[in-house]
Amino acid sequence: MSILVTGGAGFIGGNFILDWLEAHDEPVVNLDKLTYAGNLQTLASVAERPNYHFVHGDIADRSLLATVLQRYQPRAVVNFAAESHVDRSIHGPADFIQTNVVGTFNLLESVRQYWLAQSAAQQQDFRFLHISTDEIYGSLLPEAPAFREDHPCQPNSPYSASKAASDHLVRAWHHTYGLPVLTTNCSNNYGPYHFPEKLIPLMILQALDKKPLPVYGDGQQIRDWLYVRDHCSALRRVLEAGRIGDTYNVGGWNEQTNLSVVQRICALLDELQPRADGISYSTQITSVKDRPGHDRRYAIDAHKLESELGWVPAETFASGLRKTVQWYLANTQWVQGVTSGNYRLWMEQHYHA
Ligand code: NAD
Ligand code: DAU
Repeated sequence: MSILVTGGAGFIGGNFILDWLEAHDEPVVNLDKLTYAGNLQTLASVAERPNYHFVHGDIADRSLLATVLQRYQPRAVVNFAAESHVDRSIHGPADFIQTNVVGTFNLLESVRQYWLAQSAAQQQDFRFLHISTDEIYGSLLPEAPAFREDHPCQPNSPYSASKAASDHLVRAWHHTYGLPVLTTNCSNNYGPYHFPEKLIPLMILQALDKKPLPVYGDGQQIRDWLYVRDHCSALRRVLEAGRIGDTYNVGGWNEQTNLSVVQRICALLDELQPRADGISYSTQITSVKDRPGHDRRYAIDAHKLESELGWVPAETFASGLRKTVQWYLANTQWVQGVTSGNYRLWMEQHYHA
């Protein structure tokens, strides 16, 4: 028995593999293309384990997938592989269509061929868990109820449109071909090993570098934050007991404006590593041009996951954010590894263009 994880060298996939290997002996095969967002340093602590295997490859490569599926005979595929950054999708949507749509299609077809060749009992036990996002639902008005699983799909960015397309493909492969799929739609994650193009790690590192903290527009956009290990525990639970063909929203009931998130990061840094001049990091906050088509508010209603599968998050935003800031302060080597080359180019193009 083993599971195949795609995109396991990224932020959530990496945390998922670390979490899985803490909880199980069952082997994990990690197939990852190692784009700019993939980093094997995240998995250095498990790299030599006999129950961890890494395969460098693309989810769009069907011949590689056939070989990997045949060789490792997984009982489940957990699909994290994606292009994941909204701002990058605005600058260049092609990679998002290629991996999130064409890649997911190729993965589904490869997995379907593998699944069809299994015994009836194996077919019944097999699972394809697709990791998706709350962004497929679009933007909420201030007083609107949080997204439930039956909320209309109204994606607004090239990223969210490509993820919505992948969710539709996964759904169709179940309804048409009977593939035993599960889909999760999660809110914004944060925590260790988060690539610093995203809000929380970006702000921590910019603050420590004495650089401006670039808040888009008025900073009153709302995101619903979940500590990454809580997402991982939800995924393990859905894989274990989720109803085949269903979708589950994952979130921590934790809506925050972007400005308040940045202010909380500054307050934590003021406490844990104060500036030499004694001035608060919050003086570095700067309003910059807004993101085009910026969704104003996301909020997840996680009742279904809680009531049907008994999942609850372990961290509050206060405890999770403190752990996260502490992690970035303690892991400068990991940070240095991901902030060279391509990262500098991105920062230059996106923030100084
Ligand atoms: P990430 O960008 O940190 O990691 C993506 C990983 O996928 C990288 O390791 C990358 O090398 C790999 N990858 C990219 N294209 C590939 C391809 N064609 N074949 C194989 N591997 C490929 O992303 P993340 O933040 O860890 O997100 C993981 C998944 O979770 C994504 O599907 C994303 O849409 C979803 N999600 C993310 C969040 C969030 O807040 N980060 C929230 C909800 C859902
Ligand atoms: O909601 C889930 C989604 O969360 C995931 O599907 C995506 O993969 C993930 O990247 C994330 O998308 P967001 O666009 O919400 O995350 P990001 O960290 O890029 O931005 C969070 C908020 O902060 C958003 O409102 C934009 C704002 N922001 C972001 C950056 C990078 C800023 O104000 N300044 C910045 O420099």
